[in-house]
Amino acid sequence: MFITFEGGEGAGKSTAIKRIVARLEEEGYEIVLTREPGGTPIAEEIRNVILDRKNTNMDPRTEALLYAASRRQHLVEKVIPALKEGKLVLCDRFLDSSLAYQGGARGLGIENVYNMNLFATEGMLPDLTILFDIEPELGLARIAANSQREVNRLDVEKMAFHKAVRQGFHDLAEKFPERFFIVDASKTPDEVFEAAIGEIERRLKK
Ligand code: TYD
Repeated sequence: MFITFEGGEGAGKSTAIKRIVARLEEEGYEIVLTREPGGTPIAEEIRNVILDRKNTNMDPRTEALLYAASRRQHLVEKVIPALKEGKLVLCDRFLDSSLAYQGGARGLGIENVYNMNLFATEGMLPDLTILFDIEPELGLARIAANSQREVNRLDVEKMAFHKAVRQGFHDLAEKFPERFFIVDASKTPDEVFEAAIGEIERRLKK
């Protein structure tokens, strides 16, 4: 099974993922935890180019293509082999981030970005996508309060951008209701974790 985690900035995604991995390992699942962009050496190099704060003049299509390139390398080198070995692959961000950020918020169009990504993914989609949903105002306030978390180029984009990202994710959840599970990430860390792990365990037992 291939499970992805999505959401806006400051939704508490990383904290919840750590606890999810710990719980599933306790239960005996063999987990591969990975992330996008990155997850393999080549893909991490691409990540550095995309998220470098110096690269303020990056063209939106260049950005979308780089995410897709990183995705391709990561899928082939890490995700697909692990799934073939019967492992449970958990990925922090995947295709839906490109659809919401580049397709929605950057204005390239969800359909366009989806089609461009087909070359990279060959149609592969997650079995389950957990969306950590939070109002951008609240998410960004959390990041500001937590100075340990590195602030990247995309974090400092305008509020309207983050609102468009959230709208993009909502549109996707509506489009793929079977695959998406929305968690209200404005709740406490415990509640967020329980909601997410509850759904994952339900799907694993199906
Ligand atoms: P990261 O520091 O990993 O963010 P987070 O902790 O929020 O997951 O940075 C990843 C950034 O890249 C994040 O702002 C979302 C963005 N992104 C896209 O715009 N498109 C994509 O396809 C992916 C995978 C990420």
